[in-house]
Amino acid sequence: MTTEQTKQADWLQSVRWNSLEDRLDLLDQRLLPDEIVYLELTTSEQVWDAIKQLAVRGAPAIGIAAAFGVYLGVRSFSGSRDALLAEVNRQCDYLATSRPTAVNLFWALDRMRARAEALLGAAASEETTVESAQQALLDEARAIQAEDEETCRLIGEHALSLFEDGMGVLTHCNAGGLATARYGTALAPMYLALEKGITLKVFADETRPVLQGARLTAFELQQAGVDVTLICDNMAGAVMAKGWVQAVIVGTDRVAANGDVANKIGTYSVAVLAKAHGIPFYVACPMSTIDLNTPTGADIPIEERHEDEITQGFGKRTAPQGVKVFNPAFDVTPNEYVTAIITEKGIVRAPYGDNLRKLFTE
Ligand code: MRU
Repeated sequence: MTTEQTKQADWLQSVRWNSLEDRLDLLDQRLLPDEIVYLELTTSEQVWDAIKQLAVRGAPAIGIAAAFGVYLGVRSFSGSRDALLAEVNRQCDYLATSRPTAVNLFWALDRMRARAEALLGAAASEETTVESAQQALLDEARAIQAEDEETCRLIGEHALSLFEDGMGVLTHCNAGGLATARYGTALAPMYLALEKGITLKVFADETRPVLQGARLTAFELQQAGVDVTLICDNMAGAVMAKGWVQAVIVGTDRVAANGDVANKIGTYSVAVLAKAHGIPFYVACPMSTIDLNTPTGADIPIEERHEDEITQGFGKRTAPQGVKVFNPAFDVTPNEYVTAIITEKGIVRAPYGDNLRKLFTE
C-alpha cells in the first residue's frame, strides 16, 4: 500500500455518500487488504450487484447501501406522486432480492418504504412534491447510516463492560467498521478499549471460504493498532485449550425471536467449542438485526453461494473438477450456546424469547 492508502485505512468508511457527484462510493471489500478502491455507483442495479458480489457486506452495511440504492433508483423519476410511491416499492422489492439472510437489508428497505408512504401515501401532505420526496429519501438513507454509527458505539460500550484488561477475545468473520457505518458490532469493544487504554488480545478466525476474518478483521484491527493474531478456523479449539481465550464475540445477520443466531458459516462450531471450554459466547448486534417475526433459527433463510468460493477461492483450483460442493454462507447457533446478546439498548440474557420481546417494548 502507498502511504496515502495507509493513512486512509486509519478509518475506512465502507459506504460513503458523495454529495458533490450525487453518487454512492462503496469500498470494494473484495479487494482488501491489497487495494483500497471505491466503486462509484449511480444506479440501483449497480448497488444490487455490489451487495450480491460482496463488494459491500456485513448486515448493517448492506442495509445502508440498499437504502442509498433506493434513492439512486428513483432520483431521476418524473411522474406523479402515486407513481413515485409505486416506484419506491418496486425498487425496494428488487433490492431485497440481492441477499436473503441479513435482516438489516429488509429492515432498511422497510424504513425507506415507510418514509415514502408518509411522504406520498394517502395521509401525506399535499405540499410534498416529487422532488422534495426524492430529497427526503436521500436524507433517510443518510439518517440510517448516521444512526448506525451511534448504535455501534453504544454496543461497544455495553460489550466492553463484559471484558477486562488483558483478556483474550476470539472473533469470527468480520463484524467491524467495514461491516457497519463505523466501529462495528463485535469489534466495537476493541476500538473503545483502545481509546481507553485497555488491552484486549484478539484472535481473528480466518473465516473460510471468503476469508473475511483474514482479509478484513485482521486488516482493520491491525490498522487501528489493536493486538490481533490471525488463526485458521480449525485452530480455534487449540487456542482455547491453551487458555488464551476468555471470551468469544461475534456479529450476526439475524437473531430469531427465540434467540437463535444466524452468522457466518463456522460460527456454530466456535460456539460449541466455547461451551466445551467454559468460555462465554457473546453476540453483538443492533436492534435492527433482531427479527421477532422469525420464530426460530430454522426459519432463517440461509444463503447458499457459488461452489467456486470453495473450489478456487484462492485464485487457483484447490479441488477436483466435478466434485460435489455444499457452500452455505451462514449457519445457525442455537440459543443455548449464546451467553448474551449485546445491543445498543443493553445486554440480554436467557430466556431470550421473553427478554428480546421486552427489549422492544421498554
Ligand atoms: O457474508 P458476509 O460477509 O456479509 O457475512 C457477514 C457476517 O456474517 C457478519 O458477522 C454479520 O453480518 C454481522 S456484521 C456487523
